[in-house]
Amino acid sequence: MDKKTYAARRARLLEATGPGVVLIPSAPVFTRNNDVEHPYRQDSDFYYLTGFDEPESVLVLSTHHPEHRAVLFVRPRNLEREIWDGPRLGLEGAVSELGVDAAYDIAELDERLPDYLGDVDRVFVRVGRGHPFDTTLFRALDGVRARSRRGIRAPTELVDPVRTLHELRLHKDADEVAAMRRAAEVTRDAHLEAMRVAKPGRREIEVAAEMERIFRLGGSERPAYESIVGSGPNATILHYRAGRRPLGEGELLLIDAGCELDYYASDVTRTFPVSGKFSPEQRALYDVTLASQLACLDATKPGTTLDAIHDVAVDVITRGLIDLGLLQGSVEENVEQQKYRAFYMHRTSHWLGMDVHDVGLYYEGGKPRPLEPGFVLTVEPGIYVAANADVDPKWRGIGIRIEDDLLVTATGHQNLTHDIPKDADEIERILADR
Ligand code: GLY
Ligand code: MN
Ligand code: MN
Repeated sequence: MDKKTYAARRARLLEATGPGVVLIPSAPVFTRNNDVEHPYRQDSDFYYLTGFDEPESVLVLSTHHPEHRAVLFVRPRNLEREIWDGPRLGLEGAVSELGVDAAYDIAELDERLPDYLGDVDRVFVRVGRGHPFDTTLFRALDGVRARSRRGIRAPTELVDPVRTLHELRLHKDADEVAAMRRAAEVTRDAHLEAMRVAKPGRREIEVAAEMERIFRLGGSERPAYESIVGSGPNATILHYRAGRRPLGEGELLLIDAGCELDYYASDVTRTFPVSGKFSPEQRALYDVTLASQLACLDATKPGTTLDAIHDVAVDVITRGLIDLGLLQGSVEENVEQQKYRAFYMHRTSHWLGMDVHDVGLYYEGGKPRPLEPGFVLTVEPGIYVAANADVDPKWRGIGIRIEDDLLVTATGHQNLTHDIPKDADEIERILADR
């Protein structure tokens, strides 16, 4: 994205917060073991406002400073370190490439941060969550307090900026929607590849690897979350990842995998029979899940809520399970007493964006918030019959979820992942051709 995009976001944030200083630190580097680090992934808030992916950086936005609206503290150029760790943008690069008004060496943060906090009442900063920036902030506040006898006022309010910042992030702009479309396309290619390679005898982890290969070839930096590739009864374990289990003849394979591209996530689930044909029981539960997902899609438009969409999913799934004999009694009593939760135990939707479970309030004033154009959400109903469920054994060990990514538009929605097959007959045709 253009540096003007980030500058505009910074300006919008300051407009929304009002007078004060906003502090946003980069993500910490996490040690994996001994001297090995986890792959670095920038903090989404920081990246949303800078487009800058280096660690050890802090963004300062100010309405008070006479010249500096936006300042970055960054690692300076260092030819010796860059031989080991790769190029750095450096101070001059930060100003010219990222469009901030000034840049300083991160080593000068302790010394310079109090300068930005003097005579400022409100500091918009997130504390807690174990972030190492907390101690930097507290030292800086002490630094300003030490200047009180020189007539400099210290801040009196620390305000979490996420209420305003995450509200901005919830409303996706055109650049963000374009990035999410690209992520969805690469994810489509990976799911099609999975349908091609996932034959009996291949292992779950191999399918995950083939998909991640397509992610990388498509320009994705990383999966948006750990891929879930669950075969047979593993499909009924909600947070299963991908293991060494070989795919068995006659089993279903549930794949919940999506790439992250240019810092935007996709999040897609498809479920298909590894031998190419659904058994009658698999097909029956699949068609209920799909009917429920399609009903949820129909309901997705401005003004509705995620709770209302969830109610649609619950209604269709409960009716289907009663028809098939997995639940007994009336729809009303099964819904009221939440008996469907034996088979459908998670929510239907979440926001999607830079984070797979994206930011933004779900409720306002105690009520579920109505959808607005520019929101992106998932719709992902499922049916999971545990291997030891108290039902006719023919149903046991079947797990199904179908998940798409939807952009809310003025008149309804666009399904960003519409071209990843999910109709049972179409899936069987694709599998027959491999
Ligand atoms: N893949 C995580 C989720 O569907 O919410
Ligand atoms: Mn998912
Ligand atoms: Mn999801």
